[in-house]
Amino acid sequence: MLAVIGGSGFNRWDALHVTGSVDAATPYGAPSAPLTRGLVAGCELLFLARHGDPHRIAPHLINYRANIAALRDAGVRRVVAFASVGGIAAGLPAGSVVVPDGILDYTHSREHTFVDANVDAVAHIDFTHPFDPALREQLLGAAAGAGIAVRDGGTYAATQGPRLESAAEIRRLERDGADLVGMTGMPEAALAREAGLAYAMLAVVANDAAGKGDSAAAVALEGAQARFDAGMASAREVLLALLRAEAGGA
Ligand code: HPA
Repeated sequence: MLAVIGGSGFNRWDALHVTGSVDAATPYGAPSAPLTRGLVAGCELLFLARHGDPHRIAPHLINYRANIAALRDAGVRRVVAFASVGGIAAGLPAGSVVVPDGILDYTHSREHTFVDANVDAVAHIDFTHPFDPALREQLLGAAAGAGIAVRDGGTYAATQGPRLESAAEIRRLERDGADLVGMTGMPEAALAREAGLAYAMLAVVANDAAGKGDSAAAVALEGAQARFDAGMASAREVLLALLRAEAGGA
């Protein structure tokens, strides 16, 4: 089964025909919200609001382990994660949709692994390609088939938040090779890999990152809201196209 993790600007999905709700409990605590079970284009899936519904859990306070464990325990094998990001690289204005292929992790003080003192043997998961290549291809293929513009590839930098970055921090991220910056991709992606889930991201640019473009003086979020909403709608269309293709046996 596929799960959708909705981020900022995507707490509920109107296209989802809700059939139930799972109040999951895990050894790590409760996930951000009950898992919503539903049908889209004839496909059964689970939806999880990463920040809770209503949106109230800040990025550094999200129980990522509970979220991923709850999805795994519910039978999920693939996760499409939506993320709102700041654009660092040129050519990524607000509203752009990106399917990233790399991650840089600047988060700290988060519960970031399922490997704890109780494991029999320490496993070092491979994380060379942090986003599942097959699921990425499926998303890109669905976007191409539906005529929706998405950028193929890019490196997502995960920062601790909840504050936005300084312009100097963004310059450092850029030197490090980051194209996008967000606050939730890690440890989410790594935990998904540890749990054996195929994980890919649809990142939607909400603003120019600090010090860039419209955010030269201060991060310009409000002015970009309409373009972000349009980008989110496009990203949901990509997912719909993927589900329709799978329902049609494509
Ligand atoms: N920085 C970090 N996270 C974000 C941003 C940003 O500029 N925009 C949306 N999420």
